[in-house]
Amino acid sequence: MKRIALVTGGNRGIGFEVCRQLAKKGFHVVLSSRNEKKGKEAIKKLKEEKLSISYLKLDVTKESSIKTAAKQFAKEYGVLDVLINNAGGNYDYGITPTQSQVDFIKETLELNLLSAWTTTKHFLPLLLKSSFGKIVNVSSGAGSHGDLYFGLATNNGSVASYGISKLALNGLTVKLAAELKDKGILVNSVCPGFTATTPEAKKMGARPVEEGAASVVWGALLEKHGPTGGFFRDGKSIGW
Ligand SMILES: NC(=O)c1ccc[n+]([C@@H]2O[C@H](COP(=O)([O-])OP(=O)(O)OC[C@H]3O[C@@H](n4cnc5c(N)ncnc54)[C@H](OP(=O)(O)O)[C@@H]3O)[C@@H](O)[C@H]2O)c1
Repeated sequence: MKRIALVTGGNRGIGFEVCRQLAKKGFHVVLSSRNEKKGKEAIKKLKEEKLSISYLKLDVTKESSIKTAAKQFAKEYGVLDVLINNAGGNYDYGITPTQSQVDFIKETLELNLLSAWTTTKHFLPLLLKSSFGKIVNVSSGAGSHGDLYFGLATNNGSVASYGISKLALNGLTVKLAAELKDKGILVNSVCPGFTATTPEAKKMGARPVEEGAASVVWGALLEKHGPTGGFFRDGKSIGW
């Protein structure tokens, strides 16, 4: 039996490549997206590569969508081995805390923090049925002091909402890891590093998507007694 992984925001960018790499490692991957058409187009590409992949509609900012998806998943698979909370964004380059619009701050916290929190809550019963349970929260050095270029104290406070949402996501990782450590589920935050998912990022020297995705996949492949409650990039611990 193949192990089963669910990736949120799998239709493009790092999430899409994570789906590909996990399937190449032998997982059956459930690629999810909020937009069915885009998700199914993505699936088609991976099926052409003969990868074991299927589709689930999932908007991570809507609890009703998460609940429906979890029910459907339970019916179809009965168990979940790896949850990759990848969907995220709202990079507010150049925007400092006092310049931020409150609606944007709320939206960013919903997208980067509450999404992973709510998805984890509703998929937890399925993860508890696995003997290999892993939760990987795709975070960012922008939410830490450990990143010299994009970290919390850099760039005069710019990227405020995004950075703070990823800082909070790292807090969620620590809390979940503490709650679930006796239940055999490893929970880690992983940063893909500055990754070329847009032409602008590529021009700025961001690394290839394959490398960013591999940093995430590392968290899914940890052995049973691997680390939990940590923050990693390329398999190495990075500062909070
Ligand atoms: N790229 C980087 O340099 C970098 C660095 C550090 C961390 N990260 C993190 O890595 C993750 C992936 O980044 P990326 O660069 O691949 O981003 P991306 O190319 O912008 O892709 C974001 C993905 O999230 C999905 N998404 C957005 N809102 C959603 C929602 N409500 N429900 C479900 N899916 C939703 C998008 O779907 P749609 O196509 O429908 O919009 C898309 O599939 C993010 O969490 C990001 O913060 C990225």
